[in-house]
Amino acid sequence: MKQYKGLIEKYRKYLPVTKKTPVISLNEGNTPLIRMNKIEKMIAPNVEMYVKYEGLNPTGSFKDRGMTMAISKACEKGMKATICASTGNTSASAAAYSARAGIKSYVIIPNGYIALGKLSQAMIHGAKVIAVEGNFDVALSMVKQICEKYPIELVNSLNPYRIEGQKTAAFEIIEYLGDAPDYHFIPVGNAGNITAYWKGYTEFKAAKKSKKLPFMMGFQAAGSAPIVLGKPVENPDTLATAIRIGNPASWKQAEAARDQSGGVIDMVTDEEIVEAYKLLAMTEGIYCEPASAASIAGLIKYGKKNCFSKSKKTLKIVCVLTGHGLKDPDRAIKSVKFKPVVVKPDLKSIMKIIEK
Ligand code: F0G
Repeated sequence: MKQYKGLIEKYRKYLPVTKKTPVISLNEGNTPLIRMNKIEKMIAPNVEMYVKYEGLNPTGSFKDRGMTMAISKACEKGMKATICASTGNTSASAAAYSARAGIKSYVIIPNGYIALGKLSQAMIHGAKVIAVEGNFDVALSMVKQICEKYPIELVNSLNPYRIEGQKTAAFEIIEYLGDAPDYHFIPVGNAGNITAYWKGYTEFKAAKKSKKLPFMMGFQAAGSAPIVLGKPVENPDTLATAIRIGNPASWKQAEAARDQSGGVIDMVTDEEIVEAYKLLAMTEGIYCEPASAASIAGLIKYGKKNCFSKSKKTLKIVCVLTGHGLKDPDRAIKSVKFKPVVVKPDLKSIMKIIEK
C-alpha cells in the first residue's frame, strides 16, 4: 500500500514547488468529507450535506495545508525564522512546522483572546509567544513592519504559498464528489481560506477536473463583520475568537470570490454559532471549534430563508469545519447545561442520577 505523504506530494503538479524544494510535511490534508444525514433533513428535502472536517489535520486546523507550503518555501529560500500574527490556529501550525523544519518561530497573539488549546500548541512546539495588548489586526500590522526590516519569513495568509497549499482542500472535495458542490459554506476571518478555496475550484475547473463552480457562501461573526458592513470594525467582538478580525488582509479577494461565484458574504450571531456548534456535536457526533460552526450557522440561516427548496434537483452542499473542537474546550464546557455531577462511589448514588 502506498502511504499518503501529505498534500505537496499528492498535488505537486498544481503547486509552485520544484525537485529542489525541501518538503516539510506532517502528512497534512486528505481530510474526510462526512455526510450529515440528520442536519441535511432540517435544511431542505433536496439537500445532500457534507462537512469537510479540517480539524483532523495534524495540528487540528486547515492552517496546516498552507503551512506545509509556506515553511517548505521558507526553507528553500534559506530562511531561519518565521513569524505570524494569529488568533491561535496559525500560530499552532507555524510553531509545529517550524519545529519540524528546525527553524525559529515567533508568534504575536491578541492578549487574552486565544483559545487555550492553541496557546498550548505554540508553546510546546517551542515558539516565542508574544501577546500584544491589542487585537489581531494590530498584531498583523506589527508583524508586517517586522518583516520589512528583518530576515524573518511572514507565514500569515498574505504569504502566497499559504493560499497555494490551502487550495488543495477544494481539489479533494472535487475528487470525492466527482465534481464541485453546488454550494460551499465557509467561515471568514482574515479571508485567506475563502480566497484559497475559490482558487482551487477555478483551477480544477480550468484543468477539466470538474464541470461546475460552487456558490461561495462566506460567514463572518456579527460582531466582527467588516466585509458585510463594508468598513473595518475597530473593536471586533465574538466568542468565536478565531474569526475576531476587524480588517481582513484578503478582503478584496474574498469579495472577488463572492462576486465571481454569485455567492454571498453574510454574518451570523454568536447565538447562532453556538446553536450550530452544539447541534453538530449532539446530533452528528462532530466536534468543531466555534468559528468553524459559523459555516453551519450560515447554512441553517439560508435554509430558513428557503434558499434551497425551490430547486428541483438534489443540491450538494459542503460546509468547511476549519478547526477541531478540542482547540477550545472552555467554550464546550460553558455551552452545555448538564455539568458533571459529583457523587459517592456507590451504585445507588450513580443510579439516582441516571434515572433522573
Ligand atoms: N476558522 C478557524 C478555526 C480559524 O482559525 C480561522 C482563522 C478561520 C476560520 C478564518 O479563516 O482567516 O482564512 O478567513 N484563523 C487565523 C489564525 C486568523 O490566526 O489562526 P481565514
